[in-house]
Amino acid sequence: MSATITGYGLAVPEGRLTNADLEARVDTNDAWIVERTGIRERRIAGPDETTASLGALAGAIAIKDAGLQPADIDLLIVATATPEQPIPHTGAFVGETLGLRCGSFDLGAGCAGFVYGLVAAAGMVAAGTRNVLLIGAETLSRVVDPEDRGTCVLFGDGAGAAVLAATDRRGILAWDLGCDGSAAHLLEIPAGGSRRPTTIDTIAARDHYLKMAGQEVFRRAVRAVVDSARLTLERAGMEPSDVNWFVPHQANARIIEAAANRLGIPSERTLVNIDRYGNTSSASIPLALFEAVADGRVREGDIVLASGFGAGMTWASALLEWGRQ
Ligand code: UT7
Repeated sequence: MSATITGYGLAVPEGRLTNADLEARVDTNDAWIVERTGIRERRIAGPDETTASLGALAGAIAIKDAGLQPADIDLLIVATATPEQPIPHTGAFVGETLGLRCGSFDLGAGCAGFVYGLVAAAGMVAAGTRNVLLIGAETLSRVVDPEDRGTCVLFGDGAGAAVLAATDRRGILAWDLGCDGSAAHLLEIPAGGSRRPTTIDTIAARDHYLKMAGQEVFRRAVRAVVDSARLTLERAGMEPSDVNWFVPHQANARIIEAAANRLGIPSERTLVNIDRYGNTSSASIPLALFEAVADGRVREGDIVLASGFGAGMTWASALLEWGRQ
């Protein structure tokens, strides 16, 4: 028995931040951003939108799409790097909005969070859980330093959700999860936790904002995605040529291109929507995959390879046969 995605939902804020808007704020320009990242605009949460509100919106759509009621959901997993607040977990707020009383937990694995969640959800389905609601939701605009041109041009907000249930089909075929904590300092919010609680000094030092060593993360990202994707294919006894759709985490169009090239997967079979959303962390893979399902590119029986990487540094790949029952 395997697990498959029986319903999906997406939610992005109405608000858009274009490269032209950013030109007015920091020393950057449209040509640099497009050439170095592939990003043209991002969605930005309004004052009333939060990680939990976007997540709940996507979750409600996914439950309906799966033909279910909230009472049919037996477990909620919220993958996020930008939680609603430190305590309680974001799942508590999402569950309340959706009218759930099932168990819920947050999953912190950076931008690899949704793929980690797919694997965790599949495991819970294999253990007998009927319907798992998995949500990747982020408001990165709330943690990005508006004065740091190295990060503020990259990130955006959004949410994607999937219902997972048992299937007789092949469903999730293979996966790989990893984390190299020796590189944790390369992408972090240094303050606001147990190690460095919030003080006037941490605020003055801007240490509640996201910090990233971009070039080093870039190098590691390409390597991690390629190695993890290859290992996952090997575990399923498949080749890159068997993959109908490669769905990489949308962090940088050049990372996506380099990884796809090394894997030997052509651009026509690689899903890219970073131009419209930027990097939405754990929401990026569902945003790319489910847009392509909605517009008919991804079809029943297609082999989909999703690969993410992010803060930790984590990486995760999942190979699945797309099919809704
Ligand atoms: O999802 C989590 C994982 N995150 C990622 O995967 C992100 C990985 N990293 C990246 O995508 C890239 O490293 C960046 C997009 C962050 C930066 O691109 P890069 O090609 O690595 O640029 P760089 O950091 O080497 O900087 C090149 C130049 C520098 O100027 P000098 O020193 O050559 O004069 C930067 O100061 O570009 C400058 N620069 C900018 N210029 C205009 C950096 N950011 C900007 C900017 N606009 N926004």
